[in-house]
Amino acid sequence: MGTNGITITRTTSGKPKPKDADLAFGTEFTDHMFLMDYKDDKGWYDARIEPYGPLSLDPATAVLHYAQSMFEGLKAFRGNDGKIRLFRPQKHVERLNRTAERMCIPTIDPDLILKSWTMLVDLDRDWVPRAVGTSLYIRPTLIASEPFLGVRPAKQYVYYVILSPVGAYYPEGINPVKIMVVDKYVRAVPGGLGEAKASANYAASLYAAEDAKHQGFTQVLWLDGVHRKWIEEVGTMNIMFKIADEVITPPLAGTILAGVTRDSVLALAREWGLRVSERQISIDEVTEAAAKGTLQEVWGTGTAAVISPVGELSYQGQRIVVNGGRIGNLTQKLYDTIVSIQYGEARDTRGWTLEV
Ligand code: COI
Repeated sequence: MGTNGITITRTTSGKPKPKDADLAFGTEFTDHMFLMDYKDDKGWYDARIEPYGPLSLDPATAVLHYAQSMFEGLKAFRGNDGKIRLFRPQKHVERLNRTAERMCIPTIDPDLILKSWTMLVDLDRDWVPRAVGTSLYIRPTLIASEPFLGVRPAKQYVYYVILSPVGAYYPEGINPVKIMVVDKYVRAVPGGLGEAKASANYAASLYAAEDAKHQGFTQVLWLDGVHRKWIEEVGTMNIMFKIADEVITPPLAGTILAGVTRDSVLALAREWGLRVSERQISIDEVTEAAAKGTLQEVWGTGTAAVISPVGELSYQGQRIVVNGGRIGNLTQKLYDTIVSIQYGEARDTRGWTLEV
């Protein structure tokens, strides 16, 4: 028995660890996983850490049919000082429970969520890679586990957490990506799931992303579902622009995920005295700024990629090259600053990191 009534069963056959230089995103998993069950009449119960392995699900399990499923994603970093730090875990705890509520999934005691991450990372701490640009990605997941084919919130759930040592999310790394602006497909609509970290949002994005890939782009830029005019997100990331020295990002108004990196970037930009606006921005404003020469930088923010500069946008056959296809100064400074906090190189004056 571990602390807080969390049972620990250690593996007897640890896997070989990948070399830092070989790490991609989400292909390798550590030796252990955290699991907890829920039943309507019991609440959450049987919190435990077990050897990593497959789940056994009845073919009728609700999640397999109606996608009552959600996840979170955060990272643990190993600093040069050897310490392991989680980046803004509290924000992820809060968002997990917000998504759960939206998905009719029972929420979990916030302290227990945090404990499930810190205990698991601590147990598998040797798996946290060392090289710059690598980290241990933490993937908490909640699924409806009741075998039942009626359409209603399930009466049984599983919460589990797996860990994956990762390198760069995009093969481009911090090099600028080419983005296709789509007006044929949409990711979210007002009143829908857009602001939740629902698995279904990612399923909804696949078709357009494949279309973009076939046309030679890394990802898509999503416009709003009603007017197909207002910019929402880029790929699986939040998007930001620097136009005429104003940092602009779409507001959190229901269709956009409240990204933790988004929040961190906005906080830094405000601290640095930049003009920061969370406001609607149309694709026309961007094309006009490009024509006028005031479009300075474009970048995506997300936990997986941290900051991903956009080098080129393609919209209705028009090609917009951003900053000559190179990473901008502000984009680079934001990346360097966040990364230095994550690896413990800069002092954490904002309480963003949690040592494990
Ligand atoms: C992100 O971290 O940017 C994400 O959206 C997670 C992604 C791997 C689905």
